[in-house]
Amino acid sequence: MEIRDVTVDDLDAVLDSRKRAFGPIPAGSIGPWRTTVAPSLAEGRYLGVFDGGRLMGTSRINRYDQWWHGRPLSMGGVASVTVAPEDRGRGVGRFLIRATMDRCAELGHVASALYPATTPLYRGLGWEHAGARNRVTLPAEALRTLGARDGGVKLRRMGPGDAAELRSVLERVYAATRASGPLGREERIDRLWLSGEDDFAYLADDGFVLYRWRGDDIDVENLVAGSEATARTLWSLVGTASSVATTVTAVVEPDDPVLWLLRERSYDSVKQTRWMFRLIDLASAVAQRGYPAAVSFDTVVEVDDPQRPANSGAWRLSISSGAGAATAVTAPAGEEAPRLTIGGMSALFAGVRPGSLRRAGLLSGGTPEIDDLLGAAFAAKPYMIDYF
Ligand SMILES: CC(C)(COP(=O)(O)OP(=O)(O)OC[C@H]1O[C@@H](n2cnc3c(N)ncnc32)[C@H](O)[C@@H]1OP(=O)(O)O)[C@@H](O)C(=O)NCCC(=O)NCCS
Repeated sequence: MEIRDVTVDDLDAVLDSRKRAFGPIPAGSIGPWRTTVAPSLAEGRYLGVFDGGRLMGTSRINRYDQWWHGRPLSMGGVASVTVAPEDRGRGVGRFLIRATMDRCAELGHVASALYPATTPLYRGLGWEHAGARNRVTLPAEALRTLGARDGGVKLRRMGPGDAAELRSVLERVYAATRASGPLGREERIDRLWLSGEDDFAYLADDGFVLYRWRGDDIDVENLVAGSEATARTLWSLVGTASSVATTVTAVVEPDDPVLWLLRERSYDSVKQTRWMFRLIDLASAVAQRGYPAAVSFDTVVEVDDPQRPANSGAWRLSISSGAGAATAVTAPAGEEAPRLTIGGMSALFAGVRPGSLRRAGLLSGGTPEIDDLLGAAFAAKPYMIDYF
């Protein structure tokens, strides 16, 4: 069993593996899939496990920026994980994901995230549950009446040629709102994403929406708004479908402004798809993340990462003025120092409260006061609006 990069000649076998893993692929999706993955092959982003010439399994690493408290860091999004049915249950998946983690590091990703179909495979290698993609179902008529008080914000229709502008709008909004979790994608992927014939997309100076019909209802795949006026304009535009659509299902932030704009709110109907997160290069990720400017402290934590020993050991975490640093400490951490598994450290980084990590067995030692500091520095309710 060996890991090799997938080549164009392997793509039929890869398709077969995907069908066996995830079910039939509509004929019309195969061409776009080939177009999407082709550039990633040369970049070493599609891995195969081979037994001689036979493909046993695959994984893909998507190139993303992921925003953490308003700052982007390089993240490898692991997708298309498959093992042939006849090879399952014998450690092939674990062998593949280990190699995928190492490849993330070689590609310069300081962190990795994935949507798990099963948790143990990834948890065993250091990923931990961190955030979610939230889909809320709202009454279309309630959105229609949100119309902007100041007469509206200028919108224009958006197509593939607007990918670069969309990216800069999102960068401004994510930085200003101190977003945690959402992704920046490669421009070529955004161009493809903006070319769906049955998708309708509109751009504002500080936001956008992309939606489509699903039966008699509306699916909002993405709606980002950097101000109240833009939120009202975009949501009410979607709501104008209320003469035909009863409900709108939308991917939103956990504290999405629309939930505070609605006139009535008694219960939320939210479906979460969970994603897991792993620090690949702890020191770089801590340095690249943003933090609340008011939090300032210096403390030593001990991290255990059997798969990536460079992350293991005692780290001095210094947080101040919105920036952070993790410096390796040569002396062993004292008895008082908090101790975290790499999964625990990754979840802490992603905003899971120390009080939860402690009771889940991912954090031990330390004191309640240090928990408070760590919790304040890494506070986040991370979300993604993209699925991969
Ligand atoms: C999930 C999949 C990749 C696992 O591959 P595999 O070669 O069977 O996995 P391994 O034998 O290396 O098992 C690794 C660990 O995952 C666990 N695991 C594997 N499949 C599992 C499943 N379906 N449910 C729960 N745990 C599972 C194993 O028990 C093992 O855990 P352990 O080390 O604690 O015992 C494979 O079953 C598959 O391709 N499934 C269909 C597609 C899919 O779900 N892909 C994942 C998308 S995120």
